[in-house]
This record gives sequence, structure tokens and C-alpha cells, in this order.
Amino acid sequence: MRVAMIGTGYVGLVSGACFADFGHVVTCIDKDPSKIERLERGEIPIFEPGLDDLVARNVREGRLFFTLDGAQAIREAEAVFIAVGTPTRRGDGHADLSYVYAAAEEIAGLIDGFTVVVTKSTVPVGTGDEVEAIIRKTNPNAQFAVVSNPEFLREGAAIEDFKRPDRVVVGTEDERGQAVMRDLYRPLSLNETPIVFTGRRTSELIKYAANAFLAMKITFINEMADLCEKVGADVQQVAKGIGLDKRIGAKFLNAGPGYGGSCFPKDTIALVKTAQDFGAPTRLIETTVQINDDRKKAMAGKIARAMQLDDLTGRTIGVLGLTFKPNTDDMRDAPSLDIIPALQALGAKVQAFDPEGAKEASHLLKDIDFKSGAYDAAEGADALVILTEWDQFRALDLDRLKLLMRSPTVVDLRNVYKPAEMVRHGFTYASIGRG
Ligand code: UDX
Repeated sequence: MRVAMIGTGYVGLVSGACFADFGHVVTCIDKDPSKIERLERGEIPIFEPGLDDLVARNVREGRLFFTLDGAQAIREAEAVFIAVGTPTRRGDGHADLSYVYAAAEEIAGLIDGFTVVVTKSTVPVGTGDEVEAIIRKTNPNAQFAVVSNPEFLREGAAIEDFKRPDRVVVGTEDERGQAVMRDLYRPLSLNETPIVFTGRRTSELIKYAANAFLAMKITFINEMADLCEKVGADVQQVAKGIGLDKRIGAKFLNAGPGYGGSCFPKDTIALVKTAQDFGAPTRLIETTVQINDDRKKAMAGKIARAMQLDDLTGRTIGVLGLTFKPNTDDMRDAPSLDIIPALQALGAKVQAFDPEGAKEASHLLKDIDFKSGAYDAAEGADALVILTEWDQFRALDLDRLKLLMRSPTVVDLRNVYKPAEMVRHGFTYASIGRG
């Protein structure tokens, strides 16, 4: 099948490369000349494990193309995906749909023969109706179906998530649209991946509901962690004890400094706004958003308390990990963006190391001394904070670490280490929810 993918951001690029790997012929389209130039040279603008090889192989084998001018690819495509950004609109928290609507207008003028227009971008309920209206108005004779097909890709594991998803959700009542989508995802039938065919509005809502539920699950365990600290219980055991109940499930019960990233913060806010607009407020999600924001801000205080100080003037804090999670260079809504300025406001000097995120972080955080490794970040520090659980921070040489630090305090916001082991090595150790 011929596929046109509008937008070569995270979702567009991963989806385009994976569809090409399924055997489809995919053209990825973007308005940003420097991005297309880089992609044509084989450079991947984001860090995502395995994506460079996947792109290179499919380009080499003639199934994956990049272009600034998508007109021909859109005309020839049986499915045109809209995978552009839907950032939070400044001022009101709603998703900004201007890029989605601009793409719909562009597609409308180019449709040639029956074409399925698929919204992959995360869009509020009703956006598909609007996309359909735009296309119909711009090109009344166009033969098309607008389908919602949300993505559930985790950064750092996006290729695996695309190729072995728990499910694929397809929102359309149009039978020809359903048939095209079934063909596109046919390679997944080998793994017996369920495809949930549903209405378009329902599909749009499924995406927000999934992200909001996961954000709420994390927030629930984070609150349990705070309670564990007060009552002398262990949140990891609580997570295990409840997670083995199949009705609850073990995943997304790791307590930490609060969720971040490109999806949960943005999508929870957008869902709250939509629900308010429709007069059906989602108070659980409103509260989740508030708790998570407060939590990120509160982490600096937790670090200061572990150091038994109110004022951090003259103290140096080493930070391991800046990105919102490991295996990505993405800094969007990373807890570090709240925690580090708050530490600096208490007077601390911050020296930090992140395996992939330092460049992006340097645009967003001020006055950080960027180091080239974990031990460099620990050297001379009065406390070391583990903020993102990159693999390389999981088996540090604790004796070496202790010798390097000015004062051996470790604040482990991802529960990477065991409290007893840290104490045995002579550290003052604080973590999340292990009372
Ligand atoms: C998420 C969804 O998982 C994915 O389905 C959706 O399409 C996009 O948003 P992503 O943001 O890439 O993916 O990462 P995810 O692994 O979900 O983590 C999000 C945040 O939650 C991170 O800050 C992570 O550290 C945090 N988290 C996750 C926890 O604090 N505890 C957990 O148990 C899981």
C-alpha cells in the first residue's frame, strides 16, 4: 500500500518507518527543510533506540522516502496520516489544532480517488468531524473517509510498541476505511493483535482515557509512597502486592518524582478542558494534574531534608539523569525542569550528567555544570540525586562514588538502589516510599 505521513516528529517518523518495515511504501512529509535534509542524509533528529537502523534499512530498500513537497505522495496514497504536533495552546490549556487543520486543507486539494485520511496525532473528541468538514468544504467532490487511529507509543520503546502493540484502535464507521486500515495493519495479525474497531469520537476519547488512566495510576502509587514514608511501609512491596491482582495489574506502579513527557502532562490537561467544556468535569484527572505538579515542585524540599539543610548556599548537588525517562533525549515536562531550578533557588550549585539529554537540557536549564559521566557528576558533591533511571546508573561502584563525594548523601528518586545496601556502604540514603 502507499502511505503518506504528514509530520516527521516522534510519532510520524516511528510510524512511517514501521509501516515501511511492514512492506508498505511510505513517504514522510515535513515543512521543515533542515529536518528533511537531515533525514535524507540518514540523520535521525531524535534519540530512539533502533530507529536509525530501521530508517536506513527501509530507505535503502526503497520503501521509505522523505520530502518537503508531499503533493505527489498524497495524490498517490491510499492512506494519508496526519501526525503533526498538537501542543498545549498558550493561555487556555486546550490542544492547539492549527497544524492538524492546515494538514487537512492541504490533503483536501490533493485527494485523487478514494483516500483514507487518518488522524494519528492526539486530538480532542470531535476533531475528526472537523477534519472531515474541512476536506468536504475545500473539495466537495473528494472521495474519502476520515479515521481516528491513536498511537500508544512509549518513547524509548516505540518500535516495539508499534510492532507488538497490546491493541490497535481504529475509529470509523466507513467500511472502505475499515478495510484499508485492516490491510495496513495486516502484518500484526501474525501476533493476533486485537484491532478495536469503533466510532471515531470513541476512538479519539480512548487515547485520552488511556493516558489519563495511566497518569492517575502513577499518581496513585506516588501518594501511596508518601503514606509509606509516614507509616514505615515499603511502596515497592505495596505495588507488588496490589499489582499481582489481575484487576489492577503490575505495570505503571513505579513511584517516582512525578510523571513528565510529551503526552501525560499535555493530554491530561486537554482532557480536563474538553470535559469541562462539555459539562462533564473529570475531577479525578483534575486532581491528578494538580497532585503531579505539586509533587515535582516538592522534590527539591525532599532533597534538602535528606541533606538536613534548609539553605543550600555553598552546596553542590550532583544530578544523574535529566530527561523525563530513560532511553530518550526528550526533556518535555521532565521533573528535572522543576526540581533543578528549585534547588538553585535554595542556593545550590548543580552539576549534572545525562547520557542523551544534555544538549536539549542546556537550552532549558540555566547555570548547570554539565559533566561527561556519572562519577564526574558525583565528584565533590554534597548530595547525589538519581532523577532518571538510565541503565548505566543502576550498578554504580558505590565505594568509588563515596570516595568522590564531599558528603555521601544519595537521594534516589527512582528507587534504583536498596536502602540496606546503601547504608552498609556508609551513605545517607533517601528514596521514594520506603519508610
Ligand atoms: C506515554 C504512554 O505510555 C504512551 O502509550 C503514549 O502514547 C505516550 O505517553 P511516554 O510518555 O513515552 O509514553 O512514557 P511512559 O513510559 O508512559 O512514562 C511517562 C512518565 O511517567 C515518565 O515521566 C515516567 O518516568 C513516569 N512513570 C511511568 C512513572 O513515574 N512510573 C511508572 O510506573 C511509569
